[in-house]
Amino acid sequence: MKSKIKPLSDKTVILGISASIAAYKAPALSRLLTKAGCSVETCFSENAEHFIGAETLRGLTGNIPYAKTYGSHESLGAEPHLSLAERGGLFVVCPASASTIAKLSQGLSNDPLSLTYLSYTGPSFIVPSMATEMWENSQTKENCENLKSKGATLLGPVSGPLASGKDGFGRMLEPTEVYNAIVEHFGRVDGFLKGKSIVITAGGTKERIDPVRYISNDSSGKMGHALAEVARDFGAEVLLISSSDLETPSNIKRQQVESASEMHSALEAAQSQADILIMAAAVADFRPTENASHKIKKSDFLSKDSSRSISIVENADIVASVTFPTKIAFAAETEDLVDKATSKLKRKNLDMIVANDVTKGVFGSETNSATLIFPDGTQNELPKMSKYDLAYYILRSLKDLKA
Ligand code: CTP
Repeated sequence: MKSKIKPLSDKTVILGISASIAAYKAPALSRLLTKAGCSVETCFSENAEHFIGAETLRGLTGNIPYAKTYGSHESLGAEPHLSLAERGGLFVVCPASASTIAKLSQGLSNDPLSLTYLSYTGPSFIVPSMATEMWENSQTKENCENLKSKGATLLGPVSGPLASGKDGFGRMLEPTEVYNAIVEHFGRVDGFLKGKSIVITAGGTKERIDPVRYISNDSSGKMGHALAEVARDFGAEVLLISSSDLETPSNIKRQQVESASEMHSALEAAQSQADILIMAAAVADFRPTENASHKIKKSDFLSKDSSRSISIVENADIVASVTFPTKIAFAAETEDLVDKATSKLKRKNLDMIVANDVTKGVFGSETNSATLIFPDGTQNELPKMSKYDLAYYILRSLKDLKA
């Protein structure tokens, strides 16, 4: 199931592409934006089409670019620069060449990009890309300062390998970094978690029997990773403590752990600096009494009567023992969902519990349904939805909590 909640739904970005080798990164940025629900309108500087085809951007955005090759650009009317400028909630010039920066700074308007920029009155991001010598030229610096003084935000450039083969300042930010800045700009919904530090655990813990065997569970970590992504989009600083092998979402600090006791130590170290804990990990309740340093031979597992047994001890209840100003946990149940989850909420002294009916094929799936339960007895029963959307509702609930 696809997410119905997208970070940039109802937003429009005007993507201005100028003549630079880094123009090949503009399609990647437009793809990230459209996937996040954003409408992307592109306009090209005079020579940008030598670097990237307008047709490519038309295919990726579904909108006709404002570029020389599209002539009068009928869909935008008689004055395309004016109607395009009106559509945008943010103007992103990416890549911004030295020449385009100079033009925009001086108010020149003789190609689709500069015509639209001059007609536009909203916020803008300028993402420079050029050779170090051009970037360090005092004229470029002046042009950038001028644009900044008029309200534009400069993103980058950074130091790194350049098209010339040299290493130095002038390299454009990666499309994901520009994308993150755009999401942050729109504040996803209202950026209400800005300044908050959230620790999120994810995945099933592995309790070692020996170097090749362990006891674990079916948790994939997808729910915890979705929570981390949404918390980041709401503006929080996120530490993801994960035992899963899923990739780390961008702009999120990750600490890899394996066992419950490693997760416990990681949380003890994090607790004094964080505001909120969301315990989405499926912590194994028990671990083998011994973790053998060598692979145990089959015959050594057998007792005299040929039955097999592994001696186990109980793991600490992590969420109950750590101290965070706000604690949220999950309850994986197969029966009496609400009653069992409510008693865990009390026993573990939580601010909210997400009750999950795990008989419904939740593990590893892209979807989940849950009931959010609060200490005052309030319940919010949510239908089946993508894990990203469920993460959204869980985090939105923090608005009503003391956090
Ligand atoms: N949890 C924990 N430490 C444990 C076991 C669970 O912190 N040793 C956390 C889980 O991460 C989850 C919540 O407690 O957020 C509830 O976990 P769950 O497995 O549903 O409950 P248990 O306390 O293990 O109880 P039971 O297994 O009897 O259902």
